[in-house]
Amino acid sequence: MLYQKLARPLFFHLEPEAAHYAAMDLLSAAWSLPGGRGTLKGLFSVEPDPELAVRAFGLDFPHPVGLAAGFDKDARWVDPLASLGFSFIEIGTVTPRPQPGNPKPRLFRLPKDQALINRMGFNNLGAEAAAARLRHKKSNVIVGGNIGKNKDTSNEQAIEDYRKAFRALHQQVDYFVVNVSSPNTPGLRELQDREPLTALLNALHRDNREQAKPKPILLKIAPDLTEHQLDDIAELVTETRTNGMVSTNTTISRDGLQTDSAELKACGAGGLSGEPVRQRANEVIRYLRCKVGPDLPIIGVGGIRTADHVREKMEAGANLVQVYTGFIYEGPAIVRSILKDLSRG
Ligand code: FNR
Repeated sequence: MLYQKLARPLFFHLEPEAAHYAAMDLLSAAWSLPGGRGTLKGLFSVEPDPELAVRAFGLDFPHPVGLAAGFDKDARWVDPLASLGFSFIEIGTVTPRPQPGNPKPRLFRLPKDQALINRMGFNNLGAEAAAARLRHKKSNVIVGGNIGKNKDTSNEQAIEDYRKAFRALHQQVDYFVVNVSSPNTPGLRELQDREPLTALLNALHRDNREQAKPKPILLKIAPDLTEHQLDDIAELVTETRTNGMVSTNTTISRDGLQTDSAELKACGAGGLSGEPVRQRANEVIRYLRCKVGPDLPIIGVGGIRTADHVREKMEAGANLVQVYTGFIYEGPAIVRSILKDLSRG
């Protein structure tokens, strides 16, 4: 409540990307104070009900609610974020080489729709830098490594980019997510086609088998795929023995928004997240669950703000969930409030 009434209006006064860094600087400073970790934990996390624990792709999650990729691209804030109670944190998207991303402004709020539009374009410091940071991680939160290709790498050379990022992060993360679904890297989503995607996943699985401790590899998909494309993906995920799916990324659709069209036009291109993507993500999860059968883990993401939204994703077939936009709108107590409500049944 305090966040919605006090902190959010202050942060929402700032330009969205500046607000992101200001909020995280504040959280990190609080975490670094003597006694700060304990205080943050006391304020924001709850001991999760053991009944909420989830085992998926060989990992034991204390509860189903994690932080989605894109929030902590460079693994800067894993420990402070862990103190907010997330069960797992997906860092990235990380590319093999550092890159600046798209020109600013590139992140926009649509408060009338409880949504965001972003065209960040994988701004990140590169896979080695993220791996170096993760080496100093103190908490035991589960970390996912979401990997992608550099903007100036052609799709023909993309496999090598994913392999480099994969190898750089391998020892530092608990699972991987292959991101072929961001709308902000030109041509990236073409890698969701059957042939290039099969080749990419097979190459990563080959590299994985050579590692002393292979890590689960998941695939993250867009909400804008047709049923035919989803059929292909469900089949090839099974064929390549990919360990799970993350469903979904942001949408390029602008259907059904409350925000007026001039405002939308001023935002320009980018991926839409939050409430407007919730139902579509649920449909994709439900469809995939029918196609892949009961055993393949699915992380459901898109528009989650409340425990009911989590239940909805689980009923559609998700095993775990992630939040991003809901965290911006609901604030640092989002996990605690969802878990309290989930435990009530
Ligand atoms: C994202 N998302 C994202 N996903 C990804 O795989 N790699 C990335 O780098 C990013 N970057 C990113 C930046 C911003 C500003 C936003 C809002 C989102 C997508 C995110 O992980 C998630 O899939 C969608 O946002 C849908 O979930 P929410 O936001 O509706 O909870």
